[in-house]
Amino acid sequence: MPRPNRVPPAPEPADGARTDWRLVRSLLPHLADYPGRIALAAACLIAAKLSGVALPLLLKHIVDDLDASRQLVAVPLALLLAYGALRFVNVLMSELRDVVFGRVAERAMRRGALQVFRHLHALDLDFHLSRRTGGLSRDIERGVAGISFLLRFSLFNIVPTLLELVLVAAILCVQYGWLFALITAVSVLLYSAFSIVVTEWRTQFVRQANTLDSRANTRAVDSLLNYETVKYFGNEVHEATEYDRSMADWEQAQRQSRFSQGLLNVGQSAIVAGGLTAMMMLAAQRVAAGGMTLGDFVAINAYVVQLFVPLNFLGFIYREIRRALVDMSRMFALLDVQPKVRDADAAAVLRVGAGQVSFENLHFGYSATRPILKGVSFAIAAGRTVAVVGASGAGKSTLARLLFRFYDPDSGRICIDGQDIRQLTQHSLRAAIAVVPQDTVLFNDTLFYNLQYGRPEATREQVERAVRLAHLDHFIAQLPEGYETRVGERGLKLSGGEKQRVAIARALLKDPAILIFDEATSSLDSASERSILAAIDEVASQRTTLVIAHRLSTIVHADDIVVLDQGRVIERGRHAQLLAVDGAYAALWRLQQREQVQMGGATI
Ligand SMILES: Nc1ncnc2c1ncn2[C@@H]1O[C@H](COP(=O)(O)OP(=O)(O)O)[C@@H](O)[C@H]1O
Ligand SMILES: [Mg+2]
Repeated sequence: MPRPNRVPPAPEPADGARTDWRLVRSLLPHLADYPGRIALAAACLIAAKLSGVALPLLLKHIVDDLDASRQLVAVPLALLLAYGALRFVNVLMSELRDVVFGRVAERAMRRGALQVFRHLHALDLDFHLSRRTGGLSRDIERGVAGISFLLRFSLFNIVPTLLELVLVAAILCVQYGWLFALITAVSVLLYSAFSIVVTEWRTQFVRQANTLDSRANTRAVDSLLNYETVKYFGNEVHEATEYDRSMADWEQAQRQSRFSQGLLNVGQSAIVAGGLTAMMMLAAQRVAAGGMTLGDFVAINAYVVQLFVPLNFLGFIYREIRRALVDMSRMFALLDVQPKVRDADAAAVLRVGAGQVSFENLHFGYSATRPILKGVSFAIAAGRTVAVVGASGAGKSTLARLLFRFYDPDSGRICIDGQDIRQLTQHSLRAAIAVVPQDTVLFNDTLFYNLQYGRPEATREQVERAVRLAHLDHFIAQLPEGYETRVGERGLKLSGGEKQRVAIARALLKDPAILIFDEATSSLDSASERSILAAIDEVASQRTTLVIAHRLSTIVHADDIVVLDQGRVIERGRHAQLLAVDGAYAALWRLQQREQVQMGGATI
């Protein structure tokens, strides 16, 4: 019975032969990169197979010669030496082929991984907010390994092994008669049919084990990301239990998978043993009757072994290829996810003029059932600052996300200098906007790296200037390692205010035409806030700026204030005008003033 699990199951990739073919076809471009290597590997392969087929024939002659003369003379000796050399060549060529072809497989892995990585970055924010990082990384890991496996094995094993089978069967038939060929054909058919049927049946277990493995990994990663929360509530045991439960499900699925694999192996071996015995008995009978030499008997034994070894191998390959395809299918299902926000077919590059921004009758909801913005219209004149205020959850950040085009509105439009942002390339649009988000997340690297991220080509002086503007210089001066301080995963080694100042500094460094500050100073104390606001005001004075604020005292000088309530603009005007109207803004202002007085203007 399925147990309840916090993590929703991943959508199962579509299955079927068509998908499989698509997966196999997707490998072909990888082969085009190295025609020389592939030719060389093929040559090694042919040499290996030919030497393999020649071995039993040689063996037959050695045995017959020995049997006839009963002493080690020149001819059998030469044949023995040739036999040894041929065996060595056989192994050497196989190894050489692997070495030569390895490069092709690794390049394919690299390409596949890059393709997925690019695709993930092309997907929309909505996808990333719902993704499960742990499971995702596992799917990609398995998928990339699957590509390599398929390349290594499908090309250089299936076709040549089939050829080898035909060759050996032909030799048996020509040399020793149709009965041998018949036994061969029957066992090969039986073996193949059995392998295919059982493998198809057990694919479900492999798939299930994969799903559960990804799920367990999701659990583990999510739990570790929430390390602090786990400690706050002393829930280590709960976390371990939940993780163990996921692993128990995986263990169960793995057990079924292994059991079915054992069944497959035993069945295959039984068919091989049956075929081998039948052939050997037939050969022994003929030798006894005098129709065959001892050498023939030995050669037939060698051929039959040589026949069933590749057959067994084919069984293994078939099984593993099915597995690789299953592994890859999750990765390819990921590649099939289409971003919801996409460049229009004839998307233009944003021509930034004065930088006028207009929101025109915007309607938007993250889900169809819950509208968030219900007809929002206002404009920010070029170079001006407009503040958006309102209760938490009113839709302020949503407005900023729409302007940055993390989402497209359900209706209405947003224009920059008269250009609808849906008709622009996302790249050009985003290059023109700097955002200081409500919650800043940093890369697990040095402070300098995170600061320079705002404009990677910026010089050290430019970075330091932005740092001064964001009032981060004193903080950095205190640090023993200065700019080289590592900020920890997601920047968690910095305080909220420090992170906000890093975000402000790198936004200033980006220096675009339009700025968005989303409660950018909410984690700062009043003193720092005032000084940073002065810097922001200075920068903002020449740029079009959208300021989202919860502390009204920070936006009294804004050119225009928009009061948002439940997705609608309910008031609009300058600070003094809104106070005069004595509506929602005035009420909120009085409330915050009172709090300030009560706290004696103290820092938060
Ligand atoms: N990715 C999301 N998916 C679903 N709902 C969301 C998402 N992001 C925000 N919301 C919801 O939309 C509403 C407005 O959010 P937001 O614009 O962030 O509010 P705020 O005005 O506080 O910035 C909130 O009720 C929030 O729960
Ligand atoms: Mg917000």
